[in-house]
Amino acid sequence: MHYPRVLITGNSSGLGLSLTGKLLEHGSEVYGLSRRGCPLTHEGLHDIHCDLADRHAIQPALDKLLADVSSLDLVVLNAGTLGKIQALHETPLESLDEIMQINVWANKTLIDSLITRSIHCRQIVLISSGAGVRGNAGWGGYALSKAALNMLTQLYAHELPETQINALAPGLMDTAMQDYLCGEADSGQFPSLQRLKAARGTDNMPDADGAAGILLSRFPDLLQEPTGSFRDIRTWPQP
Ligand SMILES: NC(=O)c1ccc[n+]([C@@H]2O[C@H](COP(=O)([O-])OP(=O)(O)OC[C@H]3O[C@@H](n4cnc5c(N)ncnc54)[C@H](OP(=O)(O)O)[C@@H]3O)[C@@H](O)[C@H]2O)c1
Repeated sequence: MHYPRVLITGNSSGLGLSLTGKLLEHGSEVYGLSRRGCPLTHEGLHDIHCDLADRHAIQPALDKLLADVSSLDLVVLNAGTLGKIQALHETPLESLDEIMQINVWANKTLIDSLITRSIHCRQIVLISSGAGVRGNAGWGGYALSKAALNMLTQLYAHELPETQINALAPGLMDTAMQDYLCGEADSGQFPSLQRLKAARGTDNMPDADGAAGILLSRFPDLLQEPTGSFRDIRTWPQP
């Protein structure tokens, strides 16, 4: 499917960068947002630096980025942060606040800005995680934020009747996030990390380019799913 105009958050690395590269190759105009900026150079790329942890920076950045845009064919709210894998009772509220700001409230601000600017969006995909459903030990702030993201998606579906909006868990991807999960994080104390270590380097954990290819091929299928719903790429059957 061709997407003439796409907005992607978190396009400086990992999944967001790979999606950006593939969409540019297919002729999309890509509007991107991250702290570091997208490393690609392409005439179809419009990129802005923005820290989603700074709630007051988001709307001005989006206003500038989308100044000439009246509609978007695809929005991928992909930017996300993991936080530390640790017991919830040892996790300070300040850490949870920051994760929630980046993974949930920033996406609310972005969607609200699109509504306020009357930018019609055909499809919005919020990148979620199986962690938001599993509730494994140690995944505290991240799991809470992705569970909230799934509900945010469901709630916005009521307010965006002309947009297909879904939360999608992309499955394991060998990106910077896995460097910490498969390295520094304590797999003795938090056994779910052992599954990630075993998957790394196998087909069960594609690299970002591989994952981006799979996701792009499935975005059109989301249009057949109930708007507001959550799907996990690993358990969602092909139509
Ligand atoms: N990797 C996995 O196995 C996996 C599994 C399930 C779900 N996910 C989800 O997939 C999405 C992409 O993650 P990834 O694996 O590609 O990780 P990644 O390589 O670490 O990419 C994360 C992206 O989010 C951006 N970001 C993080 N904090 C930000 C902030 N404060 N302001 C603006 N942008 C910010 C980063 O840009 P800057 O650092 O430049 O700001 C980067 O472009 C995330 O939502 C993640 O939760 C990943």
